[in-house]
Amino acid sequence: MATLLDQWHAEHVAFARLLDLFDTQLAAFHEGERPNYELMTDIVDYLRRYGDRFHHPREDAAFARLVERDPEMRLPVNRLLQEHRVIARASDELLERLGEIADDVMTSRADVEMAAATYLVYYRHHLATEERRVMPRARDLLRDEDWAAAQAATPEAPDPSSDADFGERYRELLQYLAQHPKR
Ligand SMILES: [Fe+2]
Ligand SMILES: [Fe+2]
Repeated sequence: MATLLDQWHAEHVAFARLLDLFDTQLAAFHEGERPNYELMTDIVDYLRRYGDRFHHPREDAAFARLVERDPEMRLPVNRLLQEHRVIARASDELLERLGEIADDVMTSRADVEMAAATYLVYYRHHLATEERRVMPRARDLLRDEDWAAAQAATPEAPDPSSDADFGERYRELLQYLAQHPKR
């Protein structure tokens, strides 16, 4: 069953695009300009919620099956599972820093930059490892029943474009994406 792999790949591309958007704002921050904090917050918040709710649980289930099919995958898979937790922690840390800026609480620029840079490096590296190292093995080794188990790990993900709650919560993000179509 290749559909879940195709879906993951599409999601990885979308996640990478959001991380690039985040990076443009971080560059503005680094130059001493005022970035769009609401957009930065929306991106991290969206990735955190969507990742934890839909993307990561299915990967976790599929990766566990992959280790059963090929024990040599244990080390890279364990690393990825750990990264899911690290990314969640880095997201929370970053959201906290961004929240302090929004609330006008004194927070040092260095703290914000460090939290943001750590988050970006971790997330990009994680996506690249999954694409390069793990997904090709999963495509070769996992069987229909493995994919069914992964699929069953979470309910169907909502389509963000038709989800009213999403539109309200991530207004800034949707606006920005509409103004900056995919190249
Ligand atoms: Fe992942
Ligand atoms: Fe992933």
